[in-house]
This record gives sequence, C-alpha cells and structure tokens, in this order.
Amino acid sequence: MTSSQNEKVAVIIGVGPENGMGASLCRRFAAANYHVVVAGRTAAKIETVAETITASGGRATAVVCDATEVDTLEALFSTASDLGTIKLAIYNAGNNMPGHFLEMEPGYFEKCWRIACFGGFLFSQLALKHMAPNEEGTLLFTGASASMRGKPFFSAFTSAKAGLRALAQSLAREFGPKGIHVAHVVIDGAIDGDRINKGRPEVAEALGKEGLVDIEGIVDIYEMLEQQPSRAWTHEIDVRTATENF
Ligand SMILES: NC(=O)c1ccc[n+]([C@@H]2O[C@H](COP(=O)([O-])OP(=O)(O)OC[C@H]3O[C@@H](n4cnc5c(N)ncnc54)[C@H](OP(=O)(O)O)[C@@H]3O)[C@@H](O)[C@H]2O)c1
Repeated sequence: MTSSQNEKVAVIIGVGPENGMGASLCRRFAAANYHVVVAGRTAAKIETVAETITASGGRATAVVCDATEVDTLEALFSTASDLGTIKLAIYNAGNNMPGHFLEMEPGYFEKCWRIACFGGFLFSQLALKHMAPNEEGTLLFTGASASMRGKPFFSAFTSAKAGLRALAQSLAREFGPKGIHVAHVVIDGAIDGDRINKGRPEVAEALGKEGLVDIEGIVDIYEMLEQQPSRAWTHEIDVRTATENF
C-alpha cells in the first residue's frame, strides 16, 4: 500500500466563511488527522479555510465545486481519491430561501431543491461509489428545522430539506449493512456564524447570543457520529439552544 492510500480523506462540501459551519467542520476533521478536501463555490473563501488548516500543521486541499453540477463533483472526488482513501463525506450545502408561495416562480423552487436536495443525491452517489468497495466510511448530511416541519414562507426550502432527510434515511438502510454509517443532523435554529451574524444581523440581534446555536457544539456532534462503533450507530440527531421554542 502506498502512503497515499494510507491517507484518510474527508470531503466536505458547502464551505464558506471561516466563521461558519462548513469551515469549522473542516478544521475539526483536519485536527482529527484527516486530509480535508474543502469544497465550495467561492475560491477565496475555501482557500482561506484550507490555508488556516495548513498553517496550523493540518492537511487541506481547496477545490472549487458547485454541488449541483455533476462535472465539478466528479472532479472533486477524483482529486480526493488521488489524495488517499475517502472515509468521510459531509453534505453541508444549503440555501435557506424564504418566499411567498403565490409569487414563487418555478425556477426559484427548483433552484432551492437543486442545492438542498438534488446536490445531496449527486454528492452521496459519488461518495458511496468510493466508500462501498472498502465497506467502510461515514456519510453525514446537514439538516435544518425545515427538514422536520414546513413553516409558512418556507415551502421551497422545507420540501428540499425534507427530501434530503428522506434520501439520508434510504441510504442508511441500503448502505448500513455494507459498512457505511449514514447520519443526518437536524440543526433546529439559527447558527451563530457569519451567515446570520453578518447576513441577517436583525435576526441575530433579536435572538441574542443565547438564542443562536453554537457552531463548535454542532461540530462536536459530527465528530461523535464519525467515531461511533458499528454496533452503536446514530442515524439522526437534533441540536438546538436551551431557549428554542420547539
Ligand atoms: N445558517 C443557519 O442558521 C442554519 C440553520 C440551520 C441549518 N443550516 C444548514 O447548515 C448548512 C450550512 O449553513 P450556513 O449556510 O449557515 O453556513 P456555512 O456552513 O458557513 O456555509 C455554507 C456554504 O455553502 C456554500 N454553498 C451554497 N450552495 C452551494 C453549492 N451549490 N455548491 C457548493 N457550495 C455551496 C456557500 O458558499 P458561498 O458563500 O461561496 O456561496 C456557503 O457559504 C446548510 O445545510 C444549512 O441549510 C443553517
């Protein structure tokens, strides 16, 4: 076996700002001795995340990739498999797109579905093609409150996230017996990262620090899932703040 095959590789798609879920997942699994493939749409963001990891002694490779485009996903997995053995894959891409139902254009609904659901299909099919022959690996999906319930104005997002959740369930039942741990994490609330703090400051202010879900606490869950032994697997887990009304 070559040193490259000995390298354990994590492919994490849906990485944005340093102060965000995707970036924190990358840093955590790099610290856990993975070579992390940092995948996202914006080169500057993912390169910064990868540079931070390598500057602190970890191993990371940034790959620009759109989760809805099969060609860029194939290139992503080709790069990842050249680095070593893909043992962890995380689908973190998502786009919360609220909108009034009667004014919703078909293209708007479809765009939301492509990112939050269809991309999960494309990504997990490629991940499982690499993992299944080894009968080993962990495939994790990021969910949201919308994965579990449809609230007013979130018809597009909730149907896409619910579809992603159903995909994860089906894959867990098909690939669990083949050695692949598939799990879905329901993040029930706004995350304390740049997307809310910078993108929706009014939401951050209304919720206050205690009302925003702690990123490192969420990432602890992904690490716990990755470490579970095959006789004690979790398929789904939720996380929220103490003050969340649920
Ligand atoms: N933010 C919240 O409050 C919250 C709450 C519950 C659940 N979630 C879920 O948590 C996950 C990530 O959350 P987040 O957006 O808050 O922060 P994040 O992890 O910091 O960033 C995710 C990044 O995904 C990238 N992305 C979006 N569409 C993509 C695509 N088609 N292909 C590749 N990359 C893509 C975006 O990159 P660019 O910026 O470069 O476009 C975005 O920055 C999502 O699944 C979301 O549904 C979020």
